[in-house]
Amino acid sequence: MLGDEDAVRGRETCGGAKPGEGEGVDVGSYTVAVIGGDGIGPEVVAEALKVVDAAGVKLDTTEYDLGASRYVRTGEVLPDAVLDELRQVDAVLLGAVGPAIGSTEVPSGVLERGLLLKMRFELDLYVNLRPFHATPGSIAEGADFAVVRENTEGPYAGEGGQLRRGTPHEVATQGSVNTRHGVERCVRFAFGLAEERERRSVTLVHKTNVLTYAGDLWQRTFDAVATEHPSVSTAYNHVDAACIYFATDARRYDVVVTDNLFGDILTDLAGAVAGGIGLAASANLNPDRTGPSLFEPVHGAAHDIAGTGRANPLAAIRSAAMMLEHLGETDAARRITAAVLAVGDEMASNDEQWTTASVGDAVARRI
Ligand code: IPM
Ligand code: MN
Repeated sequence: MLGDEDAVRGRETCGGAKPGEGEGVDVGSYTVAVIGGDGIGPEVVAEALKVVDAAGVKLDTTEYDLGASRYVRTGEVLPDAVLDELRQVDAVLLGAVGPAIGSTEVPSGVLERGLLLKMRFELDLYVNLRPFHATPGSIAEGADFAVVRENTEGPYAGEGGQLRRGTPHEVATQGSVNTRHGVERCVRFAFGLAEERERRSVTLVHKTNVLTYAGDLWQRTFDAVATEHPSVSTAYNHVDAACIYFATDARRYDVVVTDNLFGDILTDLAGAVAGGIGLAASANLNPDRTGPSLFEPVHGAAHDIAGTGRANPLAAIRSAAMMLEHLGETDAARRITAAVLAVGDEMASNDEQWTTASVGDAVARRI
């Protein structure tokens, strides 16, 4: 994922004793803000922390009560003081946030924009890295690829507005914001990632035939960065065609780079064809390390199965492995990832009565 150099840099800046702290400081300890969140979030995060512990990595965790339940109780989403505390930690591990489907207690967008997107924007988590390793018997069996989703721009940026709301002539616009700076740093990350992978290939996914302004910026930026990475082969797919390929031939992909909204949609599709969204992990990365990065499963709070022991913790566990990789705990990260993939394969091929805890235990045993 990240090069050794980055990992070492991360270790220096993110963990370990700071000058003047004196003896007794555990150099292997990282400060991690844990946001269990709502629904199945706390359950899957508990398994992730269990596995990290089994891998021998010491975390200094602080739990933060954020999400739908806090909002309903207090009206607070992400107080500034809490955000300031989050800026200070080495990493953030998040389970899931959101109200139950059909609940009217939290208006749409309040938590999405006020909590998750606010953290992505404020902490400058400009890459959303989502790896997929298809399980045996899944539609995408044999596929092993990663989507690099731009995470701070596009239609998510919040540009736009409404006029004459509630009248027959109302107008709503929601523009897609694409900056050279934002696109380039994301594309650069994708090429850097591809360089570390065996197949060394990057596919740009966009809709350059219709979104001619944004598409042109993405394509030119992609082409320019490609010239700096001659060992990486490149391809381009329109997003609609990419949906077909994801469903029929996902093995063709190594690294996919795309904008925020296309990446959101494509990664749900990727999760579905690669064995289920319960396996899909993600890292919201600040590759420049000007602050902590945030790690979370792609899935939501799934209130309907909360407390039943049916939530699959593998996505959260793999997200925690991505966190360890980012922190420089490369060996533990690799061992956990390998164990997650092995248990995922095993779950796909036997219908043992798995529970959230027994899956966590099975991963912990394999490390
Ligand atoms: C995701 C989620 C979020 C997104 C929502 C909850 C704001 O769907 O992480 O993929 O759209 O990015
Ligand atoms: Mn999504």
